Amino acid sequence: MEKHVLALQLSQILGEEFNRDWIYEHIEIPKQEKMGDLAFPCFKLSPALRKPPQDLASELAPQLKHDLFENVQPVGGYINIFLNQQFITEHTLKQILTEQENYGKHTFGEGKTVVFDLSAPNIAKPFSMGHLRSTVIGNSLANLAANYGYETVKINYIGDYGTQFGKLLSAYKNWGDEEKIRANPLAELTKIYVKFHEEAKENTLLIDEGRHWFKKLEQQDEEALRLWRWFKEVSLEEFEKIYQLLGIEFDLTRGEAYYNDKMDATVELLKEHQLLEDSDGAKVVRLDEEGIPPCLIKKSDGTTIYATRDLTAAIDRFNSYSFDEALYVVGHEQSLHFAQIKHVLNKLGFNWAQNVKHISFGMMLQDGKKMSTRQGKTILLENVLKEAIQQASDSIEEKNPQLRNKETVARQVGVGAVIFHDLKQDRRNDVEFSIEDMLRFEGNTAPYLQYSYVRAQSILQKGGFKVDASNPFLSDEKAWSLIKQIRKFPEATAKAYKEYDPSQIAKYLLDLAKTFNQYYTHTKILQGEQQDAKLTLVYGFSLVLKQGLSLLGIEAPEEM
Ligand code: ARG
Repeated sequence: MEKHVLALQLSQILGEEFNRDWIYEHIEIPKQEKMGDLAFPCFKLSPALRKPPQDLASELAPQLKHDLFENVQPVGGYINIFLNQQFITEHTLKQILTEQENYGKHTFGEGKTVVFDLSAPNIAKPFSMGHLRSTVIGNSLANLAANYGYETVKINYIGDYGTQFGKLLSAYKNWGDEEKIRANPLAELTKIYVKFHEEAKENTLLIDEGRHWFKKLEQQDEEALRLWRWFKEVSLEEFEKIYQLLGIEFDLTRGEAYYNDKMDATVELLKEHQLLEDSDGAKVVRLDEEGIPPCLIKKSDGTTIYATRDLTAAIDRFNSYSFDEALYVVGHEQSLHFAQIKHVLNKLGFNWAQNVKHISFGMMLQDGKKMSTRQGKTILLENVLKEAIQQASDSIEEKNPQLRNKETVARQVGVGAVIFHDLKQDRRNDVEFSIEDMLRFEGNTAPYLQYSYVRAQSILQKGGFKVDASNPFLSDEKAWSLIKQIRKFPEATAKAYKEYDPSQIAKYLLDLAKTFNQYYTHTKILQGEQQDAKLTLVYGFSLVLKQGLSLLGIEAPEEM
């Protein structure tokens, strides 16, 4: 509100040359509170107006007048604005009390659909930390999109097809043990898959055998198909356990194999558009003009591949949902793949190709190196989650053994810690895997935020707070920083989605909780004057914190 008023006034004074949005973008929030609540850097205007910023600041400052502005001062080349704390505090608390859970929601996604491609683990392989990144980033972006009013479709595109399944079938025929696999599917299947690669170094016949089994699978041989279906079933059961722990659901779980009988149509379409070219017996779409390597459509042995399936899936998704945006939350090592997909769709004349976006993220590294299943080095997410829950549970036993719903709280805290550890970092950065960091329960962590929420809840309870008896008339100097933080929430959520970056919410929540904890330390909330109003502020804080956590996919326990 106050930023809009400032932008509007400045644009009216300055005339058409500077539009309101441009001014709005350049409004700053001073680092030091004593410099004011808002600031406008006049040196941005200097080149066009050919006047020194100091002069501009002195000229403009006296012209800015509004009930919201307490004091407007030219300082150096800046206009510093002190807001009317009383008015804004009251307005903010009233707004939260009316809007409740809708505070911070937006409507400009209404009537539009976004499709999310997220998680996408590969069957017969462990659910890796990389897939965790895709799952939690994708889920949080979908929450943000829904918060904008978009219709969201979350698709889990399971990796259930490809030549590697020939190798796995051959490994199973050689060393598979049904009992062991039933007891521990992903670990056992990975073990024989790793063994296949080790033995194949010495024994090249195995490679042929793998190829042979993949052919069988392609030709729908009964045994190959039966085993493959079984691998898929047991894998999905394992993945489901993880999704339940994480509290994540999908609108559609559909594997790559679903597209097997639909790819001929894609190949035909590419032919019709005269995009297919021969390259050493393989079929490719050249992307020379785009300056990137050709997109491989069919291998020389006639088998189709990953790219062909993704092209087919994208077309199918557009036909089903006529999406306004399709976001693929996948690691940045697949950047070339998605660039190729986008260009090929474009060449096919689909103008929606411009709305297909690769939301890439950095790798999860271990000792500075990429984790790989082949070498059997991958850390199992399920174990990490279980360990986190265990530690949360130990800490509850130690600090608060009387707690009700101990198990639920331990899950909320342990899982929250793992999710937040990922989401607080800029998604584009590589993340060094560190179970110690993840489970640190103090500092910039989910447990810290959850604990701040619990503290607010307990104050509200002790103070007997009731929403209908709440009082927004607060005149408390110390509350001002907290009010300002709470006011930032709507903009923070908007920006986080526009930049597809949940870490902005995570960082915002840490600042918010720190400000609250400072307020709590310096103010006797349950004593002295204006108790109702102070409780209303605490309520406002707890509402925003809970909403923010839920956008990240993290639950807030009422007690812990
Ligand atoms: N299953 C793939 C992998 O683990 C990721 C799939 C991503 N989604 C897609 N539409 N290609 O590498």
